[in-house]
Amino acid sequence: MTYNDRFIRACLKQEVDQLPVWYMRQAGRYDPEYRAIKENYSLLEICRQPELAAEVTLMPVRKLGVDAAILYSDIMNPVASIGIDFDIVKNIGPVIDNPIRTAEDIERLRPIDVEKDLSHILETIRILDRELEVPLITFAGAPFTIASYLIEGRPSKSYIRTKSLMYGEPKLWHRLMDKLGDMVIEYLKHHVKNGGKAFQVFDSWVGALSPKDFEIYVLPTITRIFAELETLDVPKIYFPGVSSGELLPTLTDIKADVIGLDWRISIEEGRRRTGGGFAVQGNLDPYVLTAPMDVIKQYAKEIIDEGIKSPGFVFNLGHGLFPEASLDKLRELTEYVHDYSAETLRK
Ligand code: CP3
Repeated sequence: MTYNDRFIRACLKQEVDQLPVWYMRQAGRYDPEYRAIKENYSLLEICRQPELAAEVTLMPVRKLGVDAAILYSDIMNPVASIGIDFDIVKNIGPVIDNPIRTAEDIERLRPIDVEKDLSHILETIRILDRELEVPLITFAGAPFTIASYLIEGRPSKSYIRTKSLMYGEPKLWHRLMDKLGDMVIEYLKHHVKNGGKAFQVFDSWVGALSPKDFEIYVLPTITRIFAELETLDVPKIYFPGVSSGELLPTLTDIKADVIGLDWRISIEEGRRRTGGGFAVQGNLDPYVLTAPMDVIKQYAKEIIDEGIKSPGFVFNLGHGLFPEASLDKLRELTEYVHDYSAETLRK
């Protein structure tokens, strides 16, 4: 089989024969084979075994026929190297032993040492680079989203402690953003050096901020991350997460290639708000996947019809897959996006 570079081409706004597809959280509990592996190992235990982590990364590529793989890992993994102890707790998510609350807590954070502390992740990337026939996307959590876990200590709905530090101690907040920004930059550089072919920065929860606060408290670090990584010769994706539609007009100057959209705005409106310079990725509401197949296809068709109007579109969900999703429906959806877009592009 020849290497499938449709995903890379679409990220760079080049012509494609059909639209590329991948799904955020495409390795996960909706797949019985994954659930069986999870009976024996936790997420972190899988990540510490490069052969197994590579296999889990490959499973959805084989089963769903998607055009890209995403490294099996978690946004929390790099924080182990800056001095944070955490666990990923079943049905909760990341839980931190000693949440960050004070100036001392922030000063104590060390610079990341990827080669020493995260060599298992680099080894997984190198294995995948040898085995894959589609591009490998690696990723990092963005500073706001990581900070929300470090400060709250666990997933939150209100981000009350995070916002309290941000508004109450802006100097400390910026110090934390700087340190987490450095961590993300160094971590992603190592991914690309070891074989990553694209990366996505997940800012899953930053939609909790107003555009004004995003510009003051977060955007400077996002801008710096993409500026310092600009010379890496791979497509770069920023995903501002759920409810991020109002933030999009503030992103026009970041040195990313692709912006991820959630399902609350149309693809056309997402392109308009981001200024037309970026490729866009998204944005099927993942919960539409609970509907009958004809309904799913109708929703997908609307997204494709808008996405396909100009080069620079990657089909994805508007957020991650959930455990109740169906492998069969996902496989059929992937095929539908490929076939319908190929047919439309031939016209
Ligand atoms: O996309 C993929 O297939 C690659 C794997 C991946 C995981 N986490 C594995 C995982 C990716 C890209 C992530 C990123 C991640 N982790 C994000 C950003 C993406 C998003 O959804 O917004 C966030 C916010 C996290 C933090 C996190 N980790 C949460 C909120 C949870 C959910 C807790 C739960 O049990 O549902 C996790 C755990 C996690 N990370 C799972 C997976 C497959 C599910 C639990 C498991 O299988 O052990």
